[in-house]
Amino acid sequence: MAKISKLSWCSFVLVIVLQVVSTTLSLSESELLIQFKDSLQNNGALSSWDAKVPPCNIDKENWAGVLCDKGGVWGLKLENMGLKGDINVDALGQLKNLRTISFMNNNFEGPFLEMNKLGALKSLYLSNNKFSGEIPANAFDGMQSIKKIYLADNQFSGPIPSSLTALPKLIELMLNGNQFSGQIPNFSQERLNSVNFSNNHLEGPIPASLSKLNAALFSGNADLCGAPLAECTSPSGKKLSLTTILIVLIAILVAVGAIIAVIIILHRRKTTPQLADTPAAAAAPPQGHNKDSSEDLDKLEKGMSPDRGSEGKKSDQSVKLSFLREDVGKFDMSDLLRASAEVLGSGMFGSTYKAALTTGPVMVVKRYRQMNNVGKEEFHEHMRRLGRLSHSNVLPIVAYYYRKEEKLIVSTYVENVSLAVHLHGNKSRGQPSPDWPTRLKIVKGVSQGLLYLYNSLPSLIAPHGHLKSSNVILNENNEPLLTDYGLLPVVNLEQAREQMIAYKSPEFKQNGRITKKTDVWSLGILILEILTGRFPSNFLQQGKGSDADLATWVHSVFKDEWSDEVFDKDMDGTNTCEGEMLKLLKIALHLCEPEIEKRWDIKEAVDRIAEIKEKDDGDDF
Ligand SMILES: *[C@@H]1O[C@H](CO)[C@@H](O)[C@H](O)[C@H]1NC(C)=O
Ligand SMILES: *[C@@H]1O[C@H](CO)[C@@H](O)[C@H](O)[C@H]1NC(C)=O
Repeated sequence: MAKISKLSWCSFVLVIVLQVVSTTLSLSESELLIQFKDSLQNNGALSSWDAKVPPCNIDKENWAGVLCDKGGVWGLKLENMGLKGDINVDALGQLKNLRTISFMNNNFEGPFLEMNKLGALKSLYLSNNKFSGEIPANAFDGMQSIKKIYLADNQFSGPIPSSLTALPKLIELMLNGNQFSGQIPNFSQERLNSVNFSNNHLEGPIPASLSKLNAALFSGNADLCGAPLAECTSPSGKKLSLTTILIVLIAILVAVGAIIAVIIILHRRKTTPQLADTPAAAAAPPQGHNKDSSEDLDKLEKGMSPDRGSEGKKSDQSVKLSFLREDVGKFDMSDLLRASAEVLGSGMFGSTYKAALTTGPVMVVKRYRQMNNVGKEEFHEHMRRLGRLSHSNVLPIVAYYYRKEEKLIVSTYVENVSLAVHLHGNKSRGQPSPDWPTRLKIVKGVSQGLLYLYNSLPSLIAPHGHLKSSNVILNENNEPLLTDYGLLPVVNLEQAREQMIAYKSPEFKQNGRITKKTDVWSLGILILEILTGRFPSNFLQQGKGSDADLATWVHSVFKDEWSDEVFDKDMDGTNTCEGEMLKLLKIALHLCEPEIEKRWDIKEAVDRIAEIKEKDDGDDF
């Protein structure tokens, strides 16, 4: 991707300043390098390393294999030189500017070196040597800057060192062609996207974080299993999944049963009011329906609400499905019976199902268990308020169902997946990642939807309250639709605090309260996610005091603003719009401002976002 020229100038000036400082050290740099050379064997290729000449002449190399930048040594590229002997890591450790080392394709042997003495290293290439033995688990501790590690085609054995999993910047890791054994540890780095584990002795499940990579990168290991390779087939694994299937099946049955039961009641009331008034009505087969279906219904109905018994009327009230809009085709009882149900996912509050009616409409049913502190009237009233909302970026609620222990919220089904899947899962689905114009359109749509919620629900402090990429659905035109909005007043406070995005905000962390600007903060986080393609870490681990992780995440984006790495590498269509992308990034960082007073309000946020264009003006750069 083209660099952002203004930024490049800044870093250029910075580099000059650094180099002026470092040239005064070049003498000792040359002494250190000679020390390093002297411990090597077969070092004929380094004959140009002569203490009488400085290694670097400004940015030209006087010494073979030395990488210079404005007078300082920032790298050693000693490849294909037949080198062997000892590597003097202590000498290298004193080279203050050293950021990259390659000893690839030489004859070095012996154990792994104490490379973490080179704490500022960004890349380390040791592939194609004869290094051997176990690498200590903590060998990479403290290498906070390292991005690339190449250890391929050596003879390393034993477990893959666990300290690799704690390297925050790791992007590339090549371990292929060794004798590493045991399980692949739990890599969780978002940006680790170039790896090779093939041809080792690894076994056990591949961690979920790597499951989307190409299967070839794990080949040549007899006992690795799980995506992208074949499913793990340990007996306990099978049992577990059977149990899961059963639970899911039961859950579907219960949910569909609940809807059906409710429809039956409605239907009876409408079609046979005279029967509904008699106590025996609920048990009697409704008129005009064949015997088989009414028997099925009765069974499902009983299964779903055991407390109902046969003296229906009083409990009829408590299982009322309330419709909020008329523009969706009426559900017919027998259609619902034949509706195919499918579990879409299970969120933090409960599961989501898709129910396809044979008459056409497809509904999404979300089931909430953590709303049992809210009174019935209050719930009804709140749902009616949400039911009145109508905006092209807000997914409408069609109906709901209230019972003390659980609530169902029914909305229309949108034939597409969430923004989260588009941003983070398209590679594995074999689909292109959204390009810049699409991402900009999504940002604008989300901000418009959010503004609408602010205006329509003025009494709510955080009118959305749970804005995140998995709660944004894209329709077939990639127009975003907000879901799971407006629930803050009805979710049990305890659960809300633990799980909802509004309660991850800096103001809640600092002052224990959310404000009118809290959803603006969530919007900022969402835009950062859309621009960078990085998944905010705290959403991965719902609950557990993970606020600090999110702050770190924002901070990491903020730091990388000064590099060309901040934007999602998979985002296409970025020619001639870096200026606009950068403007949007800055807006997002404003919205994430931890101090409430300094953070923009929703109006200003939306106005600024609306100004962003698909292409730079041309005279900006
Ligand atoms: C991974 O390693 C194997 C074996 O060492 C090699 O054949 C393959 O080309 C490597 N793949 C990549 C993408 O580096
Ligand atoms: C790996 O990390 C994930 C996410 O942090 C966690 O759910 C999982 O239990 C971990 N697995 C192992 C084997 O530690």
